[in-house]
Amino acid sequence: MRMYDLIMKKRNGGILKKEEIEYMVIGFTNGDIPDYQMAAMMMAIYFQGMNEEETLDLTMAMAYSGEILDLSKIKGVKCDKHSTGGVGDKVSLVLGPMAAAAGIPVAKMSGRGLGHTGGTIDKLESITGFHTSMEEEAFIHQVNEIGIALVGQTAHLAPADKKIYALRDVTATVDNMSLIAGSIMSKKLAAGADTIVLDVKCGNGAFMKTEEDAKMLAETMVKIGNGAGRKTIAIISDMNEPLGYAVGNALEVAEAVEVLKGNGEKRLVELCIILGAYMLFGTGLADSVEKGKEKMESVLADGSAYKKFLSFIKAQGGDLEEIENTDRLLKAEYREEIYAPVSGYIAGIEAEEIGISALMLGAGRETKESKIDYTAGFWLNKKTGDKVEKGECLGIMYANQKEKMEPAKKRFLNAFIFSKEAVPKQSLIKAVIGD
Ligand code: URA
Repeated sequence: MRMYDLIMKKRNGGILKKEEIEYMVIGFTNGDIPDYQMAAMMMAIYFQGMNEEETLDLTMAMAYSGEILDLSKIKGVKCDKHSTGGVGDKVSLVLGPMAAAAGIPVAKMSGRGLGHTGGTIDKLESITGFHTSMEEEAFIHQVNEIGIALVGQTAHLAPADKKIYALRDVTATVDNMSLIAGSIMSKKLAAGADTIVLDVKCGNGAFMKTEEDAKMLAETMVKIGNGAGRKTIAIISDMNEPLGYAVGNALEVAEAVEVLKGNGEKRLVELCIILGAYMLFGTGLADSVEKGKEKMESVLADGSAYKKFLSFIKAQGGDLEEIENTDRLLKAEYREEIYAPVSGYIAGIEAEEIGISALMLGAGRETKESKIDYTAGFWLNKKTGDKVEKGECLGIMYANQKEKMEPAKKRFLNAFIFSKEAVPKQSLIKAVIGD
C-alpha cells in the first residue's frame, strides 16, 4: 500500500477501505507517513468527504492508536458526558458530582481549553492544590471509593488524533463534519465509557453556529458511538449567550459551587438536569428521562451532589476552604463593575465576544503554550431577556493586568445587544438525537 495512491483515490472521490484507513492512521502516528502527505489527505477528505463507514473506520483507527482505558474494574455502567465547548460551560463541574450522587460511576478524562472556550481541567486547577493527573490504578480506586474522579487527558489517549488535529489546525482542515466527529469520538471511545451523552453546542459562541450544522455533527457522533457499541445520545443546546453567570476559571468554580448548593442560574441548572437525566436513562438507572430528571433534582435539593463535590475536591488535593468560602477563590487584584450604557432589555449577549473579552484578560489560552490567569474573567449580572436601567451593573470584571482591562471592557460591552422592547428567552434545548 502507498500513501500516494490513497491520497489520489480520495482526491478523485473514492471510498477508502478499512485497511487503507488503518494503514494511514498507524503510519502517520508512528512517523512513517510524513506531514505533507497526511495534510494532502486531510484536504482531500475536506473536499470529498467521508461516508458513514469511512468515518467510523477513521474514528476506530484513531481510538485504537494508543491505550484504551479499561474501566472494567469499576462497578456499574460507566457513562461519560462530553460538551463540544462553549463559553461559561462549567457543566462538568456540576454534573459530575450530581451523576455520582445519583449512582453513576464518573471516571472522566477532560481536556484543557484553547481559544475562547475553557477546559474543565483548567477550571479545576484554579483550586489551590487540586491535582489532575494520577496513575490509572489510583484513578479507578477513587471512582470505586467515592464515585468520581476527573483527570486530564494523557498523551497516550488517541495519539493519532492529537497528531492529526495539530496538522488540521494549521492546514485549514478542521471544519469537516467527519473529521470533527471522528476526532471527538476517538477520545471518548478510548476513554472507556459504556454510555456517552453528548452536549452539542449551537450558536454564536459554539463551534457549530447553526442548528442544522449542530444536528449534523450530533447525528454523525451518535452513529459513530452506536456503531462502536456504545450507547450514545446527543443533546443540542443553545450557546447564543454564555452559560450561567461566570466566565473565567476560578469564577466558574465559584458558580458551580452555587449551583450545587441549590442557587444556580435557571438555564445552567436546567441543562445539568437534562444531561444528567439522559445519563441515568442511558445507563438504565432510570426507567424514563422524566424519572431521571426527578432524581437529578433530588440530588441537588438534598445536598448530596454538593457533598459529593466536596469529597471529590478533597480526594484530589484541593483546598476545601476555597470551596466552602468561594470568596477565597476570587482573588484577582482588580475588580471593576461595568454599567449599562442605555435602558431597555437585553436582546442578546454574544457568547464568543464575551469569551474573547475573558481571553484578553488572560482567562484562556491564545496558544497552546500560554499560561492561564485563573482568577481573571467576568461575572454577568444580566442575561438575555432581562430588563436593565442605564447605569445599572451589567457585570463585574476581574483582572490582574491593569493594561488589559480597558480593551476587554470595551469588547465585553460590545457583546450586549439592547432593545427597547421586551425580548423572549431562547429555548435552551434545541433537539435530542439518538433518544
Ligand atoms: N474538538 C476536537 O476534539 N476535535 C475537533 O476536530 C474539533 C473539536
